[in-house]
Amino acid sequence: MQYLFLLLFPFVLFGRSDFITPLEYASQFYKNPRGIGCQLCHGEHGEGKLIARYKHKGKQRSFTAPRIDNISLSAFFEALNSRKDGMPRYYLTEKEIAALYLYLHPQYKKRKNARKN
Ligand code: HEC
Repeated sequence: MQYLFLLLFPFVLFGRSDFITPLEYASQFYKNPRGIGCQLCHGEHGEGKLIARYKHKGKQRSFTAPRIDNISLSAFFEALNSRKDGMPRYYLTEKEIAALYLYLHPQYKKRKNARKN
């Protein structure tokens, strides 16, 4: 079901706006997902990020957000539909989660790099 949706996603989304492509929408949504932007913790392209370093009981510790550009679609859905320590709960629709996955998906990045050359 989720996979079917991902396939149909670009067509579904086009109904929403005549002016931006699905990938443009997805990249904007990643930075402004009705709440704090994903990139602030997970990095511009989901590569993961060190959020803070701190000392706890004399020991140096760090708080990082994991990379999210290399996980399966089902793990991605699962994570966004459950409570995660250190991450806000967003209550996104399936469509929105699929958009974010599309944006972070390595194949999309490859295509983007290819266009630059
Ligand atoms: C305040 C920082 C913060 C923000 C903002 C944030 N996350 Fe996270 N996210 C985390 C942390 C920390 C974890 C690791 C939680 C854990 O290990 O249990 C995480 C875990 C995840 C995971 C699971 C990764 C895995 O390997 O299982 C996914 C997927 C994810 N986040 C996606 C998102 C998306 C998409 C957004 C934006 C809608 C977002 N996150 C916004 C901090 C954040």
